[in-house]
Amino acid sequence: MSKIILTGDRPTGRLHVGHYVGSLRRRVELQNSGEFDKIYIMIADAQALTDNFDNPEKIRQNIIEVALDYLSAGLDPSKSTLFIQSQISELTELTFFYSDLVTVSRLERNPTVKSEIQMRGFERSLPVGFFTYPISQAADITAFKATTVPVGEDQLPMIEQTREIVRKFNATYDEVLVEPEVMLPENEACNRLPGTDGKAKMSKSLGNCIYLADTEEDVRKKIMGMYTDPTHIQVSDPGHLEGNTVFTYLDAFSKPEHFEEYLPEYANLQELKDHYTRGGLGDVKVKKFLNNVIQEELAPLRIRRKEYEKDIPAVYDILKAGSDAAREVAAQTLSEVKAAMRINYFDDLDLIHAQTEKYKGIE
Ligand code: TRP
Repeated sequence: MSKIILTGDRPTGRLHVGHYVGSLRRRVELQNSGEFDKIYIMIADAQALTDNFDNPEKIRQNIIEVALDYLSAGLDPSKSTLFIQSQISELTELTFFYSDLVTVSRLERNPTVKSEIQMRGFERSLPVGFFTYPISQAADITAFKATTVPVGEDQLPMIEQTREIVRKFNATYDEVLVEPEVMLPENEACNRLPGTDGKAKMSKSLGNCIYLADTEEDVRKKIMGMYTDPTHIQVSDPGHLEGNTVFTYLDAFSKPEHFEEYLPEYANLQELKDHYTRGGLGDVKVKKFLNNVIQEELAPLRIRRKEYEKDIPAVYDILKAGSDAAREVAAQTLSEVKAAMRINYFDDLDLIHAQTEKYKGIE
C-alpha cells in the first residue's frame, strides 16, 4: 500500500517555533526521507472559518503567511503538494456524507473540541460548523487516503474520530477508505512548547511567541527575556528545571553537536541540567546557548523566506497548482465514495440496464 501523509494548519496567524518543533520540522524530514509516496500539506482555511466566520479577512491575510512559513521551513513544492482546503469542494461533499455516520453524542465527547468550545465562550452560541469540524477533518484525511498524519497530541481525538468514520463507512458500504495512523512529536517539549513567558500556550494575544518570521534580533531579545526559575536568584543557587522555559526549549531544539560547537565544557544537555540543578550555572549563559541553537536552526529559514518574498505571485501559483492537483485526487476518492453509497446513477450502466429490463413490456 502507498504511504501517504496529510496534515495541515489553520491560517489564523503566522507559524511559530511551537508549530515548528510540533510538526513542521518533522514534515520536512519526512518529505526529504523519500519514504512517502505522496505528501499533502493543507492550509485549513475552511476549518479556521468555523470559529472565525465573522473575520474572513484575517484568514485571507494569513494564507500567504502560512505558505511562506511552509516554504521557508523547507517544504518543497516539487516534493509536497501544498494546497488550500476551501478550494477543494469535494471535501465539503465528503463531510456531508460522513456526517450521517457520526452521532451528536459522539461529537460531544471530543475532549479537544470540548475545551475549545469553553475557551471561545461558545457554550451558548456554538456554530454547527465548529461542532462538526472533526468530521470535516476526517474528510481532509480520507480524501487523500492518508496513511500517516503528523500532528500534535491535541489532534489525537480528530484522528480517532477519523478512524471510526473509516471503519463505519467501510463496514456499511464498501472498503473504500483508509484508516490513518497518527504520528506524534518526538518528545513532550516538542508536543507542548510553552510561550516565552512560561505560560502553557503560545498565543499572539499574550505576545509570548517566537515566530519563524522573526528577525535575528527579535529572537535574541525574546530568548534573553525568557521565563526561567524565579527561585534561581544567585548564580550559586540550585536551579529547577520543572517549568523552566529555557530548558524546555533546549529539550525541543538542542542536539549533541550544539554542545561541541557552542558550549564545549558540557558533553550534552544532561550535564548542563545537572550543573544547573546543583547550582553555579547562571541563566544568562544558558540563554545565550539557547539563542545560538535557535539562531542556527532558523538561519536557513530566513534565507529561503527572503527568496520567496521576492516573488509573491509565484507563491500563489504554488498554492494554485497544489490545489488543482489535490482536487483531482479528492475527486477520485469522492467518486469511489459515491459508488459505494449507491449514489452514482449516471455512470452505472448496470443500474440503467436493470431498470430498463424492469420496465420492458410495461405499457
Ligand atoms: N485541526 C488542525 C489544527 O488545528 C488543522 C487540520 C485541519 C488538520 N485538517 C487537518 C490537521 C487534517 C491534520 C489533518 O492544527
